[in-house]
Amino acid sequence: MRKKIVAGNWKMNNDLAQTELLLKDLKKQIIPEDVEVIIAPPFTNLHHSFVSLRDHPIGVAAQNMHQSNEGAFTGEISAAMLKSVGVESVILGHSERRAYFKEDDALLAEKVNTALEHELDVIFCIGEELEDRKKDGHFNVIKTQLENGLFHISENNWKQVVIAYEPVWAIGTGETASPEQVQEMHEYIRRMIAENCGSELAESVSVLYGGSVKPENAGEIFSQKDVDGGLIGGASLDAESFMAIVNAFP
Ligand code: G3P
Repeated sequence: MRKKIVAGNWKMNNDLAQTELLLKDLKKQIIPEDVEVIIAPPFTNLHHSFVSLRDHPIGVAAQNMHQSNEGAFTGEISAAMLKSVGVESVILGHSERRAYFKEDDALLAEKVNTALEHELDVIFCIGEELEDRKKDGHFNVIKTQLENGLFHISENNWKQVVIAYEPVWAIGTGETASPEQVQEMHEYIRRMIAENCGSELAESVSVLYGGSVKPENAGEIFSQKDVDGGLIGGASLDAESFMAIVNAFP
C-alpha cells in the first residue's frame, strides 16, 4: 500500500514569529493516522519547527540542500546539518530551483545521492513548462528529468523516494491541472518507473501532485488512481486550508 502524503512547501515565507503562530494552529489539528503530513519551513525555522512538533505527527523537511558534505560553500547547508536539527526529508529539483538557481539534472542527481547517503527521504520534483505541453513535449520532459536525475539510484534506495509532479504552469498561478491531466501524467510516471525498476516497485512509490492545490480541488485530484497526495505551496501557509487538503482523501 502506497503512503498517502501531504507536504507543505512554505518556500521563502514565515519568519520565526510567523512560524510559531502557524505551528500553534497546526498543533491544534487532528492528523489522520493514514496520512503522512510534512511541513518544509525555511532553513532558519527548521530546528524550532522540529522541537515544536516533537510530540505531533508532522514531519519536517528542508526545501533544499547542498550536494557536498562540507566545505567552502558560503551560504549553503549540508545534509548532515539538516539531520542534526531533526530534518527527515528534503525537497529536491523544485522548478523554482531549476529555473532561478540553474539546478540541472546532473547536479540534482548528485544532491539525490548525498541525501540518500545521509538517510534523508527525498521528495523529487519534476514538471514541464507550458510551452513543453503546448508542443506535446511534456512527457519527454518528465522522462528526461526522471532518467537523468533519479533513475540511477539502487532499488533499495527507492524506499526513501517520493516523486512530486508539479507542472510549472500550475505553480502559484491558480491554474490547477485538471484531474484527467494529473492522472495521465502520474500514470506515465509510474509506467516509466516500472520500465526502469519493475512494476512491483513502481506500484510502491508515492507520486504527489503539486500546482495550485486548494481545499476546493484537492478531493478530486486525490481521488485519482495514481495520485498519492500533494505538495502544497500557498495553501500550506494557512493551517485550516492545509488541513482541509490533508483531509481531502476519498
Ligand atoms: O512545491 C509546491 C509548490 O510549488 C506549489 O505551489 O502555491 O501552486 O500550491 P502552489
